[in-house]
Amino acid sequence: MKITKLVVASHNDGKVAEIKTLLEPLHIEVLSAKELRLGDVEETGKTFEENAKLKANALSLMCGLPCLADDSGLCVDALDGRPGVYSARYAPNRDFKTGMEMLLKEMSESKSKDRKAHFCCCLALACPNEKVKIFEGKVEGKIAEEPKGEKGFGYDPIFIPEGYEQTFAELGDDVKNQISHRRLALEKLIKEIKEAK
Ligand code: IMP
Repeated sequence: MKITKLVVASHNDGKVAEIKTLLEPLHIEVLSAKELRLGDVEETGKTFEENAKLKANALSLMCGLPCLADDSGLCVDALDGRPGVYSARYAPNRDFKTGMEMLLKEMSESKSKDRKAHFCCCLALACPNEKVKIFEGKVEGKIAEEPKGEKGFGYDPIFIPEGYEQTFAELGDDVKNQISHRRLALEKLIKEIKEAK
């Protein structure tokens, strides 16, 4: 399907802003579910893929347009992959300052001293009358000893991507958007949309 307009099925302003920037090369109109006043969809799935599919399909049915949903999260090795799909809900009332403190405390109490972690992003593209398509991206890294940096959103202040010494929140958008889990997943999506043009 040739896509000229795309609705991003997220109410997270930080995430929508990142997706809009990354999709600029496509020169298509990108709108958010919030801008269209579409309701939020409950994430009842157990995996990133299930949640992304659920959100993209539901939104596409509501508005009749191609919809892109992102389900993403931080997976920490020492915590057996948690918070993972529950990353947003792990932080009480989406207060990520408290969420990061809780996570660092859990890690300090864990037997494992492993600080390895990764961000995962699963994108689902739902176009009316078509089977939903999935694109995935992952960025490896480690958890910092304490939150650092003011940029970005969510858990950015405690995530140091592989090959860097600073957190995503210190590195800022220009660097993050080159290497992030969302960037890698969106690259696959962009390729698909370009080929359909
Ligand atoms: P959801 O995909 O809306 O369920 O939210 C995933 C949650 O994972 C976000 O609210 C963030 O807390 C976290 N997350 C996902 N991607 C990132 C990122 O790039 N930086 C920081 N936190 C992220």
